[in-house]
Amino acid sequence: MRAEAGILCQSGWCANTGLIQTVANERTPVYADMLAHMSLWEGIRSAGASAVTFHHNDPEHLERQVLRHGPGVIVVDSVYSTIGSVCPLAEVVRIGHEHGCVLVVDESHSLGTHGPDGEGLVAALGLAGQVHFRTASLAKAFAGRAGFIACSERFATYFRYESNPAIFSSTLLPYEVAGLRATLEVVKNEGWRRERLHVNATYLRTRLDELGYNLHDSQSQIIALEAGPEPQTIVLRDALEARGIFGSVFCAPATPKNRSLIRLSINSALTQAELDRIVQACRDIREEVDMANWPSTRRKRSRAATGMAAGPLLRGSLA
Ligand SMILES: Cc1ncc(COP(=O)(O)O)c(C=O)c1O
Repeated sequence: MRAEAGILCQSGWCANTGLIQTVANERTPVYADMLAHMSLWEGIRSAGASAVTFHHNDPEHLERQVLRHGPGVIVVDSVYSTIGSVCPLAEVVRIGHEHGCVLVVDESHSLGTHGPDGEGLVAALGLAGQVHFRTASLAKAFAGRAGFIACSERFATYFRYESNPAIFSSTLLPYEVAGLRATLEVVKNEGWRRERLHVNATYLRTRLDELGYNLHDSQSQIIALEAGPEPQTIVLRDALEARGIFGSVFCAPATPKNRSLIRLSINSALTQAELDRIVQACRDIREEVDMANWPSTRRKRSRAATGMAAGPLLRGSLA
């Protein structure tokens, strides 16, 4: 990750809550993208800091908020966990630096999957020296049960004495660390898996988009099918599972009410035949799940008709 130091945490949740609680207090404005992960919001809450939200992936709105409330901490995800959109990191970093803010980027969904050696998006974009803290869940590409903070040497020591998860919760066990170390070798040395992952994800996104699904701004291995109201999402889940396709149900509080969805997480081991089976299933179920009338499909249609970009996501969140 091209970081000076790192801290292994018990989970991504502990990394984010412990970090924000340590770097912010009641006087700190914390600027959070509306779709930032819930653990970052929980960190803001436990720091007693004030959360200042900005529209999803909208650097201009972020800058207006910073000008209004003053220097603070900016928190974003590199790849957003519900809809797979990618943060405009260069812009966010520029704003942070121009206005004297501390930057925190959650790389849970890019560590291992992005960058030539799996180092994540911040390092791959050459921004490692400009982002103060990068956090990650190691329960995603690393397939373990842990979290991580990339930071300075000095902060790594400070964290041990200041963060509640480090002080009040037991640490990782040696066999867990050994497992992560072995996975790290795979991540570093088997770049073909990353290439395959992105080929697979791009293929599926392209085909599902052609079938009329609104994939929002997914640019990654996370692909969301947003049926909207929960009963519709359950119908979608059942239709997919009947065809052997398993996604995760995301509904409130992980999404705004009536914007529930099924999240497909694509992996590098999927074969072309398996991808085509997903495409076929998604083609076949469209009437059964009433895809044409989902609010997200209507938004896609009206966007295409007016040639407009996606509007800001209102009060989002967070899984
Ligand atoms: C972006 C993001 N950050 C943090 C977490 C929390 O990680 P963990 O499950 O390791 O606590 C998750 C997922 O669960 C996540 O998607």
